[in-house]
Amino acid sequence: MTLLPSPETATSGHPSTARHYLMCRPEFFAVSYSINPWMDPARGADAATAVRQWEALRQAYESLGHTVSLIDPIEGLPDMVFAANGALVVEGRVYGARFAHRERAAEGPAYLRWFADRGYETLEASFTNEGEGDYLTLDDMILAGTGFRTDVAAHMEAQEFLGRPVVTLRLVDPRFYHLDTALFPLDGRNVAYYPEAFSAGSRRVLERLFPDAVLASAADAEVLGLNAVSDGRNVVVNVEATGLSLELKRRGYEVVPVDLSELRKSGGGPKCCTLEIR
Ligand code: ARG
Repeated sequence: MTLLPSPETATSGHPSTARHYLMCRPEFFAVSYSINPWMDPARGADAATAVRQWEALRQAYESLGHTVSLIDPIEGLPDMVFAANGALVVEGRVYGARFAHRERAAEGPAYLRWFADRGYETLEASFTNEGEGDYLTLDDMILAGTGFRTDVAAHMEAQEFLGRPVVTLRLVDPRFYHLDTALFPLDGRNVAYYPEAFSAGSRRVLERLFPDAVLASAADAEVLGLNAVSDGRNVVVNVEATGLSLELKRRGYEVVPVDLSELRKSGGGPKCCTLEIR
């Protein structure tokens, strides 16, 4: 039996960088409509439990040294807790969200106003897109999902506004309806993903771009383990994603487990609750 490389050598290669996140406390959280296969209005969800779990996530970020800003929740917008969908922010430029479903339509302008009020340069989108739910930013490119929510025309619009190459990836499994349910950046150059969530061509693109990617199993994907947030070293991930967590540790990352089971009833995890301001 061969020994694995010592974790110390791997660890030293993963520096973290301080992040700034925007979050929205789930005071009005509910599952009162269904726009993805996770959501069952008959089963519902409990806002108080969601708030408790969300507070632990926020604390995890703060104890890692990150800054968390808050946007006020709006009554009647139960999914507003999923801040990732609110916009895409790259180098201080804010590309606004334009939601696919009318139930969430009012969230786009609310998030865009938060940024405009603080002096950011904003762009109201002409095409349907759900912010960081479908756009994940790396150093030299933005990975962009399509197939369920975000229109390919919005990929082009984001590239033009942000000046960073956008790579389109097609999602094919309705359980993984946003790119951030199937893939997360480990740092500015490498990613972890669940291959089966992507079309054959997109899988080949991912293999070419990221030969060293962490590949997740169906079991990890089904607990929304890919909906994780990494600062380059610390990976905040759903506690149930045990296989993925082991592999991350083996590669020298620090795993920070969180329990967001109540938010998963709406199809969301740690990343969905987190919009990065970069
Ligand atoms: N219920 C929400 C929806 O279907 C969940 C959004 C999760 N957000 C995310 N970034 N994946 O729109």
